Amino acid sequence: MVKKKTCVFISGKGTNLKNLISYSRDSSFPIKISLVICNNKNAQGIYYAKKYNIPYIFINTKFKNYENKILLNLKKYRITFICLAGYMKIISNTLINNFHGRIINIHPSLLPKFKGLNTFSRMLKNEEKKAGCTVHYVNKKLDSGIKIIQKNFFINNKDNEKILKNKTQKLEYRAYPEAIIKIFRYF
Ligand code: GRF
Repeated sequence: MVKKKTCVFISGKGTNLKNLISYSRDSSFPIKISLVICNNKNAQGIYYAKKYNIPYIFINTKFKNYENKILLNLKKYRITFICLAGYMKIISNTLINNFHGRIINIHPSLLPKFKGLNTFSRMLKNEEKKAGCTVHYVNKKLDSGIKIIQKNFFINNKDNEKILKNKTQKLEYRAYPEAIIKIFRYF
């Protein structure tokens, strides 16, 4: 099996990056993480790129032509698949057009509910019964692409935002690799 050369985009802690790196070290996992792109100089997640000798680049989204830098690097590293993992920036149409159907994201809610930020506080305010995570394709509308996998759990009345986040992230560490396996199962 030829592994898909994948770029993971991050902005923060990078625990999903860490998890995907660990899965991708298995020869039967369909992707190889060949590049990490980060838009935050202080992102803790870069540690994992360094630790596992994965090339990484920082981009400054304040610069007008930052998208060009992204595209050039994706080309340079022959990237064919993109995983967004806590990347706190909207992906441009240029990038989506160039990687049509080959960008996926993980979101901490049961989409289509709670698109965007602050999912946990909104869930609690809304007295939701269930929380969870969704892996989906990225299209031009925020958090609206086709779903690949969704995992859920029942919210306990003692759950606060922090607990919900922990429970959700535990599910994310299963959902993201499962979604990738599902996408490439016939390749
Ligand atoms: C995850 O919870 C994901 O759902 C959201 O951002 C968070 C990133 O966490 N999109 P980490 O940086 O992977 O730890």
